[in-house]
Order: sequence, then structure tokens, then C-alpha cells
Amino acid sequence: MNPSESLPTPTDTRRAVDRELHRWSRIYAGDGYYYGDEPGPMARRAVRYHRPWFRPGATALDLGCGEGQDLAYLAELGYSATGVEFTAEGAAKARRLLSARGVAGAVVEEDLRSWEPAVPYDLVLAVNALQFLGADAPAIVDRLAHWVAPGGVLGLSLFAREEGEAPQEHSVRFFTVDEVLDRFAGWQRLEAAHLWQWNVSNNEPQPFVTLIARKAPPAGRPVIRVPRQTVRG
Ligand SMILES: C[S@@+](CC[C@H](N)C(=O)[O-])C[C@H]1O[C@@H](n2cnc3c(N)ncnc32)[C@H](O)[C@@H]1O
Repeated sequence: MNPSESLPTPTDTRRAVDRELHRWSRIYAGDGYYYGDEPGPMARRAVRYHRPWFRPGATALDLGCGEGQDLAYLAELGYSATGVEFTAEGAAKARRLLSARGVAGAVVEEDLRSWEPAVPYDLVLAVNALQFLGADAPAIVDRLAHWVAPGGVLGLSLFAREEGEAPQEHSVRFFTVDEVLDRFAGWQRLEAAHLWQWNVSNNEPQPFVTLIARKAPPAGRPVIRVPRQTVRG
């Protein structure tokens, strides 16, 4: 192997960025939509949890929005939606999808390591994206808490690992369930799961940790109350 092509070490952030940037740029260079053009299950579920608080003008943020299928869904539902994506190819396709659907939305072409929202958002999605920030991923997951407005909802999914397994392989960071849940202690946990989903990149099952949680609302506002169900025999 040419030394310039060797894989980055976990501490070599710059080269890890290049590896993921090139990989995702290549993936999105084709005509089709790699993950399809319909919203994924995390986006649908997070929206459902946020629905009781949705108001016209509510804001939504999709971090690592890729080709924009979740972003377009948020915009179609009436959110003032912003996606952040570091590949030019993904950002262009996300803009194209918004335009094809006839909805407005912003796509910011930036690396999440150097981007910071000016204000917090009512609904924040980070779906299967932040693990690709490698050694920088934990710090960005920490910052997510500040990017969600009081009373807002976060939908997060990350590659999972078991306690004792290596936290990083090449440019990808893996999280234990506790590493994720501990960061959002004090939030209303709406869904938390450690589950296997299909990884279309390598066509293999992939363990994920997923969390949908609501940040404490402004004082005096209610949390979600689930009505007791009558169980019929
Ligand atoms: C597995 S894809 C998921 C895309 C989308 N969230 C979805 O669910 O279809 C990971 C996405 O994260 C983006 N990404 C990875 N590292 C990033 C970074 N440092 N800054 C911005 N986007 C990044 C990739 O370009 C890619 O679009």
C-alpha cells in the first residue's frame, strides 16, 4: 500500500476527516439516493414525539443530513429546517430534493467540527452521522445538549459498542449505551435502544445505540404524560 493511502490513526483527526469526506463524497456522487428519498424511522419517530409542541415556525436541525431525505420531510411538515452536511455532493442533492418537493430549507455545507448553530433548535436529528467524526465525535455529542432548545426533542443514533470493546476503529467512533445515556441524564427519555440495523455500506448488520429525548421544558411547562391504557383480555 502506498504510505499516503494508509488508514488514519485515531489521533490523526485531519486525515480521518479526509477519509470520511472522500468516502461520503464518492457514495453520493451517483444519480440515485443512497438511503432512498423517503424519511427514515428515526426522523419519523422523533417528529411524532415532538408533535405535541409543534408550532408554526418551529425549527429543526438535521446534522449530517446526507442527501436530505429527512430534511425534506421536516420541511414538508412545516418546520423551518436546516441541514448540515460536509460533502458538496450530499449538500447539492439535499438542495435538489427540497426544490423537487417544492419546500424551503437551508443546507449548510460545513464540517460539524467547526460549525456551531447561532441559536438552539426545537427538534434536532443526528442520525447515523456523528460516529464518523472519529476522535472528535464525543465532544460533538456533548455539544448537542446545547443545540436543543428547552422543551425541544433530540433524535440521535450512533454506532454502538459493548463495554470493553475498542472505542475507535480507523475514523469511526463507537459508543456504549451508557456513554450516550449519561450525557442526557436529566432529559425526559422517550425512547432508548441498543439495536441492530442493516448497514447498507458493508451489507451487514450493525449495532446502534439510539436515543430520543426531550430537554427539560421552560419552568411550568408539562412533560409528556402517557395516558394509561385499558388492557383488554
Ligand atoms: C451514514 S450517513 C447518514 C446520512 C443521513 N443522516 C441519513 O440518515 O441518511 C453519514 C452522514 O454524515 C456526514 N458527515 C460525516 N462526517 C461529517 C462531518 N464531520 N461534518 C458534516 N457531515 C458529516 C456524511 O457526509 C454523511 O452524509
